[in-house]
Amino acid sequence: MAAEVERVAELICGAQRLVVFTGAGVSTESGIPDFRSPGGIWDRFNPDEFTYQHFVGSVEGRRKYWELGRHVYPVIRNAEPNAAHYAIADLHRLGCLDCVITQNIDNLHQRAGVPSEKVIELHGNATRARCLSCGCAYTRDEVHEWLERGVEIPMCDPPCGGIIKPHTILFGEAMPEQETLEAERRARRSDVFVVVGSSLVVYPAAMMPLYAKEAGAALVIINLSETPHDPYADVLLPGKAGSVMEQILERVRQRLA
Ligand code: APR
Repeated sequence: MAAEVERVAELICGAQRLVVFTGAGVSTESGIPDFRSPGGIWDRFNPDEFTYQHFVGSVEGRRKYWELGRHVYPVIRNAEPNAAHYAIADLHRLGCLDCVITQNIDNLHQRAGVPSEKVIELHGNATRARCLSCGCAYTRDEVHEWLERGVEIPMCDPPCGGIIKPHTILFGEAMPEQETLEAERRARRSDVFVVVGSSLVVYPAAMMPLYAKEAGAALVIINLSETPHDPYADVLLPGKAGSVMEQILERVRQRLA
């Protein structure tokens, strides 16, 4: 492990454009469950019931969604960034980071200190919501208060009455165009691409490491379990994101000193 940590630190210090790509595994140490680990979200809920089509197409779909959201959102809101988020933010402070491409909706990279313009959110952000009819913006805190007061399905203020949807991407929903294009562009021009905490099974997000590799970047994968992209990795670090990223950061600091 020490040799791999050293190798990643060397790659980061020599990089012109380091891209860090994160998934739910970077936030589990903040207390937010991931999706596909044993006991993860998709172990407890059926992903087929939480599609975009169910949400926009049926009152029952929205009722189910908000019932889950009412329980999940406070976990996200109350979570604090962990050592991995802070290490990534420190790479930014050291001038080493091009950007973070994240599948997460929890805002924790920004809260750890990565500027918003450097965080590309492929799957949206849970702290915002909007009306699908008139586009009116709501904070998720505001909508969450309605749920706590007993509203089952939040609707836009009269006279609109449209469907309010969190600013997160559901299965079956189109990806945000600008973010997806920008993520692909950054991946293709990166020279070091570090994956932290993703199973790399959800597309098109999981294409990003492949675009980077195809363009000649060194690919590093830091993940507790195996991923389908492991055979393409130049360095594999099977460990916990917090402690691995802390060790890498320490070695980077020593090299830069
Ligand atoms: N350190 C490192 N890896 C971890 C840690 C940790 N502390 N905790 C969990 N992991 C790993 C797991 O082993 C797993 O392989 O993180 C990975 C998380 O994978 P998923 O749960 O599939 O999450 P993610 O890859 O982000 O999922 C992609 O799927 O349902 C959708 O939209 C959702 O954005 C999400 C997308």
